[in-house]
Amino acid sequence: MSDSTANSNARADTNTIIIAIAGASASGKSLIASTIHKELCEEVGGSDIGIISEDSYYKDQSHLSFEQRIETNYDHPSSMDHDLLVSHLQQLKRGEAIQVPEYSYVEHTRTPNSREFRPRRVIILEGILLLTDERLRRELNASIFVDAPLDICFIRRLQRDMQERGRSLESVVSQYRKTVRPMFLQFIQPSKQFADIIVPRGGKNRIAINILKAQILQMLKQK
Ligand code: C5P
Ligand code: MG
Repeated sequence: MSDSTANSNARADTNTIIIAIAGASASGKSLIASTIHKELCEEVGGSDIGIISEDSYYKDQSHLSFEQRIETNYDHPSSMDHDLLVSHLQQLKRGEAIQVPEYSYVEHTRTPNSREFRPRRVIILEGILLLTDERLRRELNASIFVDAPLDICFIRRLQRDMQERGRSLESVVSQYRKTVRPMFLQFIQPSKQFADIIVPRGGKNRIAINILKAQILQMLKQK
């Protein structure tokens, strides 16, 4: 575990435990988050733990044309509505329910829908840019950086974006060259310094998942 400033231990000021899982696109963040969620739900009860994806907080672009929306750099911190995410985390800590926006990767904007998310004891946040923002880091009780090789991330992203996010091979490759890789090097990789735990290889690292689960269970006991 690192000893970075503006980081964990002094932050536990409410009953809500917020854990962030950051790392490159397609590094395995969602898989680690859902594995921990599923296994902890079985152990401590489903109503106590929830997952929020940073992707739900991409800025609304409904005022832009589709042609303008595809030009957006979705790997730059300015593409995220972190103001809303910070205020939602603060609401959850106060015991208030929030409305998490629903995002469409195909339309590149928010949909008119949202989902109610009520306060929980443990909230797992997952997203590429979570650790780049100091205001968000201040809301966290622990932070994890998933450190998978970039070539593996790219292969996974190519398959996923073509199968699930409505992109063509050409669009994935040109977006990767133009924004995904440069923004990873400029913003996401340097944010690793703020992580408490760095998880090599990605979502199937069983020992890392066991350690993270044990840490969360210990935090729950201390509350
Ligand atoms: O799930 P993952 O962490 O990969 O999601 C983040 C990625 O989604 C970013 O790297 C961004 O390039 C991509 N994205 C996109 N089109 C959007 C919104 C996000 O390709 N409209
Ligand atoms: Mg994801």
